[in-house]
Amino acid sequence: MATLTSGANQEPNVVTAEFNPFAPGMLADPYAMYRELREQAPIYWSEMMESWVLTRYNDIDAVLMDGRFSSDRSRAETRFSQMMREQQEQYGPMGNTQTMLTSDPPDHTRLRRLVSKAFTPRAVENLRPRIREVVEYVLAEAGDRGEFEIIHDLAYPLPVIVIAEMLGVPPEDRHRFKEWSDTVVATLGGPFTPPEAMDAGRKAIDELAEYFSHIIAERRAEPKEDLISGLIAAEEGGQVLSEDEIFATCILLLIAGNETTTNLIGTSMLALFRNPDQMQLLRDTPTLISSAVEELLRYVGPVHGTGRVPKEDIEIAGHTFKPGEMVFTLIAAGNRDPAHYENPEQLDVTRNPTDHLAFGDGIHFCLGAPLARAEAQIAIGTLLQRFPKLRLLDEDPEWGGTFIIRGPKRLNVAV
Ligand code: HEM
Repeated sequence: MATLTSGANQEPNVVTAEFNPFAPGMLADPYAMYRELREQAPIYWSEMMESWVLTRYNDIDAVLMDGRFSSDRSRAETRFSQMMREQQEQYGPMGNTQTMLTSDPPDHTRLRRLVSKAFTPRAVENLRPRIREVVEYVLAEAGDRGEFEIIHDLAYPLPVIVIAEMLGVPPEDRHRFKEWSDTVVATLGGPFTPPEAMDAGRKAIDELAEYFSHIIAERRAEPKEDLISGLIAAEEGGQVLSEDEIFATCILLLIAGNETTTNLIGTSMLALFRNPDQMQLLRDTPTLISSAVEELLRYVGPVHGTGRVPKEDIEIAGHTFKPGEMVFTLIAAGNRDPAHYENPEQLDVTRNPTDHLAFGDGIHFCLGAPLARAEAQIAIGTLLQRFPKLRLLDEDPEWGGTFIIRGPKRLNVAV
């Protein structure tokens, strides 16, 4: 694999580090690879990904904050993006409809403003009692059994129940909802996605389109106090969101918030089991939960990277990125940059690093962050308080996901 180094302080030394998202053990622990890249080639050219790969906190943040980078990844002139464009065209009703995640201002501003009201910290504060109820409900039965599985019994149902209720989807449909969401998320590996997964993804999108078109029609006839009704009202008031955009927004909220939050609860609990002193500290001082969740997002945040495409020549740390190139920021690597955090490889639940990059930064900063934080705080806090002797049964669980979103597949525990 060809490797180039760049960056202001970089000697043109031999580089042994490489970014291989498929290296054995990569899902279980990518952090050693990130460290090598950061030390040897912080702005690294990956032939395999046809992309620059960035691992330093400051460089990543500079990219995410810079409006000269586009979030429309299909602008990149790479095989990867060509395949993305083809996939998009085949995706039927989503077609070329952009979501806020892949659009730039002014579309981004318009799409985000309409949904953002539902996700302000204050709006989410009002959801906390309901989140607590859902956590208690799913744990009550699990706890009675003496042993349970954190992912299946808690981390998996919690975000889907909450987002389904916010959107206004009937609760009995949430299993189908979750299945669709997982199937679509499995297609996010771009050209590395197996064809069967792409086919399944396309089918799921068709089914979702059919499903949402009924709900949208129902809400048009009879609005309720839910997010879908809100999106329709916005559309009808000022022609602000098209039907396709409403649908694309619903799918985005569904898939952006499920797998991510499930994995955050999973990676966080595993990190706490592996750092028993920190787990004990958090148990003894429950008020640390909000600081602890920020630290867990920094230390084991489930989203590892995101891409941007320069719209013009842009210089960062002595390197000039060219229009049409793909720039992949490894936010999980930036979160362990020793130039930004002291002892970054150590979990310290008292650190409260609210400037971490786990939710991105700039105008695309995760819209669902207040919700994800509330769900994680309540889920993790409740697990620790309710089960003082919680024990992990399999110390080395299997990992799932991709190099972009990862988490343990199962966490079997005894109470
Ligand atoms: C632990 C959980 C989560 C993590 C780690 C996470 C991470 C991220 C990251 C890194 C971005 C920025 C992507 C980029 O800049 O390209 C993002 C954007 C986004 N997230 Fe999250 N997310 C989480 C949960 C949620 C939830 C619960 C929702 C909603 C229900 C959500 C909705 C969104 C949306 C709509 C965007 C796009 C924002 C925009 O483009 O302006 N996320 N998320």
